[in-house]
Amino acid sequence: METVTSIVEMKRAAGSLRREGRTVAFVPTMGALHEGHLSLIREADARADVVVVSVFVNPTQFGPGEDFDTYQRDLKRDSELAEAAGCDIMFAPEVDDMYPVGSVTQVCVSGLTGKLCGAVRPGHFDGVCTVVAKLFGIVRPHLAVFGQKDGQQVAVIERMVADLDMSVEIVRSPTIREPDGLAMSSRNANLSGVERRDAAVLFESLKHVVSRYGAGERNVERVVSEMREMIEARETTEIQYITAVDASTLEDVDELGESVMVALAVFVGTTRLIDNVVLGAE
Ligand code: PAF
Repeated sequence: METVTSIVEMKRAAGSLRREGRTVAFVPTMGALHEGHLSLIREADARADVVVVSVFVNPTQFGPGEDFDTYQRDLKRDSELAEAAGCDIMFAPEVDDMYPVGSVTQVCVSGLTGKLCGAVRPGHFDGVCTVVAKLFGIVRPHLAVFGQKDGQQVAVIERMVADLDMSVEIVRSPTIREPDGLAMSSRNANLSGVERRDAAVLFESLKHVVSRYGAGERNVERVVSEMREMIEARETTEIQYITAVDASTLEDVDELGESVMVALAVFVGTTRLIDNVVLGAE
């Protein structure tokens, strides 16, 4: 595996790969890799000749008081894990290189970003879209793999790619879970013992919706209220939102149905966790 830290060098490598006619799959990450990321890298490896993984803790997607400074950074560990999963080029640029003095352009996807996580993390998706657009421009992948766990993020990226006519296929990869169902996340490491036990209720509540839907329930308010009850019964949890939206457009839905994403954000202690299920897909 090759490690590239400069944008110029990455562009040169991307240009050579294109000229050689090799297909490139890209997995953008902020590092702190876990089994969820590794499954994205394996998916990328199965779909293209060359896999590029970026590790960049993107400052512009963190709000004031969020965990930018404390976000786990260990490039050696991430490189070893990524290589074992099938990464060919690790791209790890510096902040000053990605955002040189004078850079002022932002990519803003309106509408979809004003709800769910976007409603409580103002500016977050502008940061995500700007960095992903930049990374696409540098790496020039044929396809990019994103986790369904960040269901709003992948819907926003799909919209951006469609609106800006970017020639990259977006692949949604299923959420990878711990044995008790908790969605894998770098932030799970911040949970105390009791919080970790309580966190399992997030997926339990989502599974409950899937089973109620399977049994014919279509009423959104009723299932959301049942989810609330389940989650609030745990001592360390505080719900930020629970919502049901169309998985692609993120528009609110009146009824549960195929392709409806039931999504939640919950604080467990001080750690904010998100998760979702797409009905009919699980
Ligand atoms: O999902 C993430 O880790 C980040 O939002 C991403 C897509 C790498 C952009 O910084």
